[in-house]
Amino acid sequence: MSVQVRSDVSLKPYNTFGIDVRAAHFAEAHTDADVRELLAYAAAQQWPVLVIGGGSNLLLTANVEALVLRMASTGVRMLSDDGQRVIVEAEAGEPWHAFVQWTLAQGLAGLENLSLIPGTVGAAPMQNIGAYGVEIKDVFVGLTALDRQTGELREFTLEDCAFAYRDSLFKRNPGRWLILRVRFALSRAMHLHLDYGPVRQRLSEQGIEQPTAQNVSDAICSIRREKLPDPAELGNAGSFFKNPVVPAALAEHIRQAHPGLVAYPQADGQVKLAAGWLIELAGWKGYRDGDAGVHRLQALVLVNYGQASGMQLHRLAQKIQVDILERFGVELEMEPNLY
Ligand code: EPU
Repeated sequence: MSVQVRSDVSLKPYNTFGIDVRAAHFAEAHTDADVRELLAYAAAQQWPVLVIGGGSNLLLTANVEALVLRMASTGVRMLSDDGQRVIVEAEAGEPWHAFVQWTLAQGLAGLENLSLIPGTVGAAPMQNIGAYGVEIKDVFVGLTALDRQTGELREFTLEDCAFAYRDSLFKRNPGRWLILRVRFALSRAMHLHLDYGPVRQRLSEQGIEQPTAQNVSDAICSIRREKLPDPAELGNAGSFFKNPVVPAALAEHIRQAHPGLVAYPQADGQVKLAAGWLIELAGWKGYRDGDAGVHRLQALVLVNYGQASGMQLHRLAQKIQVDILERFGVELEMEPNLY
């Protein structure tokens, strides 16, 4: 083995909730060859494999009796540039925000609204990360993945990935595809998305009338820092629940009792509700039980004040799900993957 495999390793530094469970085996892959070698080794030992990126969408509820394979491959490059449209490719282990900042430094627009999202490039397509009116599907052109069933490389186009709100082919087939590198079509012209939430307002407060993509990125970073906890300071995995999409009649029913309901009509006639708003209305914002809690500034974010276990956080999430179902008839779906 050219790659080092360690045994009985704490996963605390490798998940943004900061949950202190142990991996029976742990290794980092820097190249495609490392990935293949580690998968072959685990198969020979009959170890299951759990692939992780930044561990920012993961709730670990038990010790992991498997090989935890952390994608640590780095590298970014421009594949083509016609003066307007530029195709860039990044390796799976690249930290997402650093990659976004690199694209902005090259004068490329497209990813600025996705600034400061924790995690890695390879994990981003898994749940089609999104923020402030943009999802990666809007600038995604393709990715290369390893088929863990056959050991073959496969290229995926945008259509192949079946992206939807916080969802993809990869999320629906856990363990099948290991994403190695991802490609995006970015632009030297600025087609900026400023209409979501407080983005335009924040720019005008700063006196910026003709923003660059970097200005938008900076504004979004400041908005996020105000209400989303930094995992380096307070363990969390971003939004813990998806915003639920419900029939229009149910949204209307809730609005009659609660006229302030935050709701976004969808193309198919259904309505997406702001789960954070429902959870706050139900009185959970700022709730704390031991070290497991609901963030005091954003009710959609569960937090670990220090020593919470994954089970404690999961139990809190379940209590919130039951309460929201009983109060509003709305089912909340967890966003992070549970292990
Ligand atoms: N709201 C409340 N109380 C709360 C939280 C939110 O009333 O405690 C209300 C807000 O006032 C606003 C609405 O709910 O009217 C939406 O809130 P916000 O703009 O904070 O966004 P969100 O719907 O809670 C989603 C994404 C975030 C993303 C933001 C901005 C999901 C599950 N979450 O959150 O993504 O950053 O929009 O685009 O779709 C993530 O997925 O981890 C994540 C952070």
